[in-house]
Order: sequence, then C-alpha cells, then structure tokens
Amino acid sequence: MSIEEKVQFALESVLVPGVMRSLVQVNLVRGIEVKDGKAKITLASAAIPSTYHSWLKDKVAGVVHELPEIKEVAVELVEAKPKELNQIEHVIAVMSGKGGVGKSLVAALLGVELARQGNEVGILDADITGPSVPKMFGLGGVRPSGSESGILPVLSRSGIEVMSINLMLPQEDDAVIWRGPLISKAIMQFWEEVLWGKLDYLIVDLPPGTADAPLTVMQTLPVSGVVMVFSPQELAAMVVRKAIKMTQKMNVPILGVVENMSYLVLPDSGRRLEIFGKSKGEEMARASGTPLLAQIPVDPQLAQLCDEGNIERYSSDILKTFVNNFLQALSLKTKSGKNSQ
Ligand SMILES: Nc1ncnc2c1ncn2[C@@H]1O[C@H](COP(=O)(O)OP(=O)(O)OP(=O)(O)O)[C@@H](O)[C@H]1O
Ligand SMILES: [Mg+2]
Repeated sequence: MSIEEKVQFALESVLVPGVMRSLVQVNLVRGIEVKDGKAKITLASAAIPSTYHSWLKDKVAGVVHELPEIKEVAVELVEAKPKELNQIEHVIAVMSGKGGVGKSLVAALLGVELARQGNEVGILDADITGPSVPKMFGLGGVRPSGSESGILPVLSRSGIEVMSINLMLPQEDDAVIWRGPLISKAIMQFWEEVLWGKLDYLIVDLPPGTADAPLTVMQTLPVSGVVMVFSPQELAAMVVRKAIKMTQKMNVPILGVVENMSYLVLPDSGRRLEIFGKSKGEEMARASGTPLLAQIPVDPQLAQLCDEGNIERYSSDILKTFVNNFLQALSLKTKSGKNSQ
C-alpha cells in the first residue's frame, strides 16, 4: 500500500458532521500529497457548516498524524460545488401514470434491497404532494443540515441517503401547492446542490403523471432507466400506457414494469385473490416491450411497516426477485447502450 493509500484509508474513518458517511464516501477528499513525511490534505468544504471547519481540520490532521510515516500534516479546505463532487453511477426513476399505485413504496423497497446488498443508495423524493418517502423511513421530524454551499441529505437507519422537499417543510403535513416550474426548480436544486457523494444508485420517486416534474427529471438528469409501476385496475393500466409513450418519446429506456397490489393471499387458505381485477402484468410488459420485474401482493404487514416508518425491516423473496430482475434489466440496457455508441 502506498503512503497516499494509507492516508486515504485513514480518512475513511472520519465521518462528515451531520451525516454518518465518511469523507471518502461523500467524496470530499480532493487531494493527498505526501513528501518527506509531510502530508498535505485538500478537502472540499461543500455543505459543511463553517462552525465545523476547524473541528474537521483537527480531526483529519489527528488521524493522519497517527501514521508512523507522517511527521507533519497540513489540511486545506477548498470550495467546491456538490455537483462537482457527486459521483452517481445510476439514476433510476420510478414512475407511474396514476397516483396511489404504490410508486413511493416501490422506490423505497428498491432502495432498501439494493442497500441491503451492499450498495450505496440515495432516494430523491421528487413527489411533493405528500411526505411518503420520509414517512416510510421514519424520518418525519428530521431536518437536512448543510451550509450555503450545499445541502446534506438525511441518512436513514440502514444508511440510505434521503432528500425530500417534505423534509424542508416546517410541518410534515403542510399542504404544498406548488406550480410546475417551481417543482422543476426544486428537483434541479436537489440534483445540483445536494451533496450525495459517491452513490451506486440514486432512486428518484416521481410524482404521478406525465406533467412537469417527470419531464424535468428525464430531460435534465442522466437517467439510466425507468421502473414503471401500475396496479391491476383498468384505469391505472391505461394511464401507464401514456407514461410509457412519454418515456419512449424522451428516449429514456424503461427497465421494466412492476405490478403493485397484484393480489392478496388469503391467510387461511393461502389462495390468491385478485382484488383489483385480473393481473395485467404480462399485458403491460408486452405493451412496453420490457420485462415484468415484480408482482407485489397487497400485504398488511408491508402497510403497517410503512405507517410505522420501518420499511427497512421488510424483506421477502418477492423483493429479492424484484431486485435481481431489476439488476439484470439494468445491465442489459447499459450494455446495449454501450454497444450502440
Ligand atoms: N402492496 C402493498 N401492500 C400493502 N400496502 C400497500 C401496498 N402498496 C401500497 N400500499 C400502501 O399504500 C400507501 C400508498 O402507497 P404509495 O405512497 O407508495 O403510493 P404512490 O403511488 O406513491 O402514491 P402518490 O401518487 O400519492 O405518490 C402506502 O403507504 C402503503 O401503506
Ligand atoms: Mg408517492
């Protein structure tokens, strides 16, 4: 291991104040130089409140000084914008044509399982009509921290970064009546001014429909693919076709479709009851020309975990299969994307 690597390793133990992620994970380490036992560490100060600056310098100098090879440490803070520091491998948009089909739930579950598999995950809640994402993770009263140079996302119990307009409102149930352009602006701000750091997946929970917010996301964020959610009700299936058309027009690939509230398992007999009508999973998959990633049943336990803010406790074979199918679809799309270039 080179001395620079040893310093980098030592810096992995320094957590950014306010977020339980390390300086390296958040990508604040801009430079490590070592010469004749003298180390020069350059850190970006983005989103770090100035009250923490000297604490952070001392902390970094301290851990680096512990290395026997190092005799002197200088720490310099430089300004940088979150946008320049963020390294996001895949942006995944979760979309539906219609409200209330379980889009936020699917976005959250996808994030939970990807994080469980060891990925760094963020969730950008672009749906300002309700605080569903923060609520599912039990983050209702938590406020994001930060400084003038950037916003630090809130961290969930299992280490998922969450950012939502609803976390910025004084009251969780304050009604938000915003016009389209403002929503678009807020989404752009979350993309450019939130210090996500290094992420494997940023999952964007879109508001329902085909209006401004989904358009903004698809036009301005480098979306790797869309997960399309629908429920078996006839109307939901019809509007989802519209949403599929929109993504095709925008040239954003659909990775697959997810049917939520597909059926209910009767507790006594184990029989499947299709309460919202016959499954349209296969039909939707055919209409979009993409795989059916999952059929999620109506599950009272899941509803309860959502209400309690404990969605991270949910685990099931259906969820594992969903994420496996998702990863497969994503790797196919990114491969074919590369080939066509
Ligand atoms: N498969 C399911 N089993 C049990 N409960 C579910 C299921 N899907 C959704 N729910 C319940 O329905 C609620 C609404 O779902 P969710 O917020 O994900 O919908 P949405 O499509 O994001 O709605 P909106 O259009 O308002 O954003 C969830 O909080 C959860 O309690
Ligand atoms: Mg929602």
